[in-house]
Amino acid sequence: MTTTKSAPAGAAATPGAPPSGELKSTGTLDIKDSRTNKSYSVQIVQGGVEGDTAARAMDLRQIKTAPDEFGLMTYDPAFMNTASCKSAITFIDGDKGILRYRGYPIEQLAEKSTFLEVAWLLRHGELPAQNEYDQWVHDITYHTYVHENIKTFLQGFRYDAHPMSMLCSAVAALSSFYPEAKNIQDPEQRNISIIRLLAKLPTLAAFCYRHIKGLPFIYPDNDLSYTENFLSMVARMSEPKYEANPVFVKALEILFILHADHEQNCSTSAVRAVGSSQVDPFSAIAAGVAALYGPLHGGANEQVLRMIREIDHPKNVDGFIENVKSGKGSRLMGFGHRVYKSYDPRARIVKALADEVFKQVGMDKDLEIALKLEDAALHDDYFVSRKLYPNVDFYTGLIYRSMAFPTDFFTVLFAVARTAGWLAQWEEMLNDKEQKIARPRQIYVGYGERPYKSQLTNRFPKAGKDSIRR
Ligand code: CMC
Repeated sequence: MTTTKSAPAGAAATPGAPPSGELKSTGTLDIKDSRTNKSYSVQIVQGGVEGDTAARAMDLRQIKTAPDEFGLMTYDPAFMNTASCKSAITFIDGDKGILRYRGYPIEQLAEKSTFLEVAWLLRHGELPAQNEYDQWVHDITYHTYVHENIKTFLQGFRYDAHPMSMLCSAVAALSSFYPEAKNIQDPEQRNISIIRLLAKLPTLAAFCYRHIKGLPFIYPDNDLSYTENFLSMVARMSEPKYEANPVFVKALEILFILHADHEQNCSTSAVRAVGSSQVDPFSAIAAGVAALYGPLHGGANEQVLRMIREIDHPKNVDGFIENVKSGKGSRLMGFGHRVYKSYDPRARIVKALADEVFKQVGMDKDLEIALKLEDAALHDDYFVSRKLYPNVDFYTGLIYRSMAFPTDFFTVLFAVARTAGWLAQWEEMLNDKEQKIARPRQIYVGYGERPYKSQLTNRFPKAGKDSIRR
């Protein structure tokens, strides 16, 4: 029943071998429809060595009680158990707490790589040769400037605008500056758009920061590295050359690597879904920024800090935990994950990083509260039985705050880093011959057909006296 361009059943790939991109058949699933007593055989397919196993949802369409029936669908609110694509970019084993980009463990990349090397790896699948890396860094550095009108555009926002609203709008606005970017089938256009997005995101992010602070915009300094230049655009005042704190540069580099990709999460799925309409990448990435803004996704690091502020003192931690458990309070932000059902490997790295940064800037009350919260939750049956462990956002906010970033800017930092993953996933989606415009089905639960019978006596009522006249 299933047709796959598959390797023969049982033909296992070698660990670490380049992925074929194909699904191999590993067996069949027999289904008996009790309505008709008919039996069906559905192929079970798998990706790489550690790839997830799945059956094709479209195979169920043939299961019907009459020839003119639509056939069976799967029902999966919130995509709890649906693979929307094949991907060779990021591997996660949520039970074992494993995260790898293109096969490389996140721990090794965080320790030894740079964000731009990781961005190349995510996109191209292999680590760059020196000449490739040099060209990549050069191109990204060369494109850091934005059109002057972007400044005017950002100045149109109120002084108290949330920087994620500003960033989302500014990324979408870039699309109007590069109309040729809509030629997404042209590899050259795709390449320059990817370079522009990676290059300009830090500039846009820093401009958003300077606007909310009422400070003049600082232009990129192309003598500096990606993260140093970002810190320069954020923090430089009258000094002719900005010299960043090396501990902060290293911390930001690591945090950017940790946040660079996380397979099919909410924002990446948004980028793929919007990109599947074949819109330009600036518009698709703006959709990712919008999704990331939500408090259950990238907005969580901001919420963690707000939660810690609300707790106010380590002595209030136990009472706070009780409120979370009884449902009286909010959730314990920075805890739990849809995929990780053990310690998020990124959280482990971030916790060690927090120790390093706090050695430099000093320990404070908020870190004490965070440590006590983590300890209380890790020893509480409510959290343990639900497999709720700290996620990447639990400690990132504390690091960002110690670097003097305002709380509502934390998710912007996440967005700058995740742009690398969004772009790699977007391009992979475009090159995947199986992909089409994303268009889920629904199970309609509303009324059957009924005749229109209006209850209105006046279909065009006049606006009230105090409304604004147009
Ligand atoms: N605090 C307290 N209880 C929780 C929490 C939490 N943080 N997370 C889940 N639960 C409980 C939830 O109430 C439910 O309990 P019960 O079975 O009694 O109803 C159970 O655990 C399962 O929760 P769920 O909502 O079905 O789990 P999910 O997989 O849909 O949600 C999540 C995942 C991340 C949205 C959720 O754990 C959460 O809201 N965490 C807090 C927000 C957060 O830190 N988000 C950042 C995620 S990591 C960064 C990123 O990738 O964006």
